[in-house]
Amino acid sequence: MRGLNGKTAIVTGGLGDLGFASAIRLAEEGCKVALFDIKEDANGRAAEMNLETFCVDISDEGQIEDACSAVETRLGPVAILVNSAAHFVFKGVDATVEDWQNILSINVMGTSLVTKHVVPQMKKLASGSIINFSSVSGFVGQPNFATYNSTKFAIRGLTKCWAQDLASFGIRVNSICPGYIYTSAFVNSCKQLNLDLDEEDRKASAMHLLSRQGRSEEVAAAVAFLASDDASFITGSDLLVDGGYLAK
Ligand SMILES: NC(=O)c1ccc[n+]([C@@H]2O[C@H](COP(=O)([O-])OP(=O)(O)OC[C@H]3O[C@@H](n4cnc5c(N)ncnc54)[C@H](O)[C@@H]3O)[C@@H](O)[C@H]2O)c1
Repeated sequence: MRGLNGKTAIVTGGLGDLGFASAIRLAEEGCKVALFDIKEDANGRAAEMNLETFCVDISDEGQIEDACSAVETRLGPVAILVNSAAHFVFKGVDATVEDWQNILSINVMGTSLVTKHVVPQMKKLASGSIINFSSVSGFVGQPNFATYNSTKFAIRGLTKCWAQDLASFGIRVNSICPGYIYTSAFVNSCKQLNLDLDEEDRKASAMHLLSRQGRSEEVAAAVAFLASDDASFITGSDLLVDGGYLAK
């Protein structure tokens, strides 16, 4: 009913929390979903849900090109691209050349290269929806988050530029900007920064008007909305799924 049934979708970072939840939601609405991730489907979760996984490092253009053409052959031209893959480096002014190269090559360059190789398939269909994962961290400064936040600001910039480049081909491009979602990335960033998890959950919850962190399914519902015909007049937008974080 929402125009998702039978469409082919790629979700990068599809074995991560938000990517996987988005893939499941798109599959529930009838999409044929391919997951691109650097990780293997170790616990067989994706296979169990009938999601095709492709082991792809999105900082490697050759791997992207091969995987995109394999998806087209097996599932048909891609109509929906969810750019969720990200590398998490939380550093301030002390970030090293290696820190910058690691995060930029995945969050900015990798996202751009996947988009580059999917767009020709969308052009064949004369329609498409690209959903790029930014964050509330793409709107505000946060202490010692310069490396990560700069990539999330960049994602919003790419979204607006690509929306202009691709509108005449019937391709919509939007960003999705979650607040704090209780995922393994949150748990891992607490560990990386040596912070107490329960205390950080309380602090993160208090930052949102709704007094809690979000759930992966709540983000996935917004991804499916942007992918669907319900969002047919929406392009170049940033959709906040942030429990009121930025309204404070
Ligand atoms: N979790 C949150 O609270 C939150 C909030 C705002 C925005 N986001 C954004 O949502 C997106 C998903 O975050 P998440 O919480 O699901 O994180 P996650 O770590 O669970 O998922 C990220 C996935 O990307 C994959 N990945 C990393 N490098 C890759 C590479 N080179 N090639 C292919 N895959 C690679 C990882 O293996 C992982 O499966 C990210 O873009 C993140 O910035 C998350």
